[in-house]
Parts: sequence; C-alpha cells; structure tokens
Amino acid sequence: MDIGLSGKHVIITGASGGIGIETTKMFLAEGARVTGTYNHSMKALESLGKTWPDQLLIIKTDQTKESNVESLFRKANERFGRVDILVANAGIANHEGTAIQDMSLEQWKATLSVNLTGTFLCAKHFFVNLEKYKDDIASLILIGSTAGFFGEAWYSDYSASKAGMHGLMMSLKNEITHIATKGRVNLVNPGWTLTPMAEEALEDKEMVSKILQTIPMRKTATPQDIGSAILYFASDVLAGHVSGETINVAGGMEGRVLFTPGEIELSD
Ligand SMILES: NC(=O)c1ccc[n+]([C@@H]2O[C@H](COP(=O)([O-])OP(=O)(O)OC[C@H]3O[C@@H](n4cnc5c(N)ncnc54)[C@H](OP(=O)(O)O)[C@@H]3O)[C@@H](O)[C@H]2O)c1
Repeated sequence: MDIGLSGKHVIITGASGGIGIETTKMFLAEGARVTGTYNHSMKALESLGKTWPDQLLIIKTDQTKESNVESLFRKANERFGRVDILVANAGIANHEGTAIQDMSLEQWKATLSVNLTGTFLCAKHFFVNLEKYKDDIASLILIGSTAGFFGEAWYSDYSASKAGMHGLMMSLKNEITHIATKGRVNLVNPGWTLTPMAEEALEDKEMVSKILQTIPMRKTATPQDIGSAILYFASDVLAGHVSGETINVAGGMEGRVLFTPGEIELSD
C-alpha cells in the first residue's frame, strides 16, 4: 500500500538513537527524504548515509540551542526544500533515578531543556518553515512517554517534561491550520522500549518483572513498534483527518507496580 510518504521531507530529531534510527529506516524505505539529527555520536547514522546518499541528510544538532535548531532547518531547506513532517523524537532521561528532595535545579533544568524546551524550539522552526514554504499539508509528531501519563517515581523531571507534550499538541493543533489548512499535530507515547535509553533498566530482572506485571501483552516494545505509529500519523493517506490524538504504544500498560507483595505489611 502506498501511504503517500514518497518524496516527502521529514526531519527526525534524535535519529541516531534507538527509536530514531529505526524510524529513519522506515521513512527511507517509504521513499521519503530524511534529515536526521544526532547530538554526540553519528555512528549509527553513518552507514545509513552511505546506503541512502540521495535521501538522507545528517546534521549535528543540540536542540537546547536555538542557533543550532535554526541552522538545522536552514540546511534541511537548502538540501531538500520544505520540511513537510517533523518527528520531535530527541530526548534524555537520567539513568539514575533521583528523589525530588535530592534533585538539583541543574538536573531539573537540563532535562526540561532538552525534552521540553528543545521540542518547543524544533516545533517553532518547523512552523517558521511552514510559513516560508506555503502548502496545505504538514504533520508534527511529538514523542512523549507513558511516564507523562502514569508518572514515574524518581524521574519527576522526565515525567513532567513528557507530560508537557500533551499541552503542546493541544495548542499547536489549533495553530498549525492557520498556516497549513490540512496541518496536523499528534502525539506518540512509547511505553518501555528496548533502546539505549531503557537498556540498563531492562537488564534488571526484578525491574522487568515489575514492568511486565502492568502490561497485558507481557512484553516491551521494539523501536519498530514506535516507528509504525509515527509513520501512521505522518501519512496523509492513513491519518489525513486525525489531529490532536495520542497513540500509546505500550502493550496495553495499566500503570505502575508500586510495591511488591513482600514490601506490604497487612494489618490483622
Ligand atoms: N526507550 C524507551 O523506553 C522510551 C519510553 C518512552 C519514551 N521514549 C522517548 O522516545 C524518544 C527516543 O528515545 P530512545 O529510547 O530512542 O532514546 P536514545 O536511544 O537514548 O536516543 C535519544 C536521542 O536523542 C538525542 N539527543 C539527546 N540529547 C540531545 C540534545 N541536547 N539535542 C538533540 N538531540 C539530543 C540523542 O543523540 P546522541 O545519541 O547523538 O547524543 C539520540 O539520538 C525520547 O524522546 C524518549 O524520551 C523512550
């Protein structure tokens, strides 16, 4: 089935990461032109660049800096023209959990700066690009997390940054149509997904057991599971009348196991 992504230009932030790289491959296979970003290491993207030299542009971007994001869009426009789709995927999570009473203001600001402010900057320059290159279609896909909905003890900075994606989506879906009449903004919330971000936690058997107790499908997601939801929202053929919606790709996750039976004292 032709889902209409061939020839479309998509920017994928964090394309060097676990979800980003698989999503990049999926867009390339559909014939899209992709501008993919990395921050520290382009290793994962390098070989893709060799396989798809005409379809893939790789740009180093620190999305906490507006000058970097501006330059990303300028270079992307120069190479492939109008950016039709933005997948705002880049994000960070501290590997060590921190109780809020021990959380430094620096840690809080660092997480919010990449995950929320960085997404704001990318969305802003995506909209600037839409104003510059008029057309009626456009799609912004934000990447949140089930943590933004269920919360996550010891990761309040991360959860708060991801909860912010809902507010961004609900506001920007009403702004985008003033520039692109058929423009759409949607949100993908991955649950636990095997990528470098979640690797450490998913190596801990006790942790995995706690995680799987909340998921009826009793498995974690693959990056391709997340990529499929992203491609659905990106496609005007599949999701042309879908805006302001959230897909949780989390195997039916119900919440969190807060205490194991051994940690609970029942009174007589
Ligand atoms: N994996 C999960 O279980 C899970 C669950 C829920 C939500 N998510 C969300 O899904 C998205 C992708 O996660 P992932 O698991 O693929 O993570 P990942 O493998 O750690 O990749 C994160 C990506 O973000 C980039 N990045 C980090 N800091 C950046 C900055 N300052 N500016 C620009 N880019 C930056 C990284 O670039 P470099 O590697 O080059 O530094 C990398 O490409 C994130 O938003 C994450 O919060 C993941």
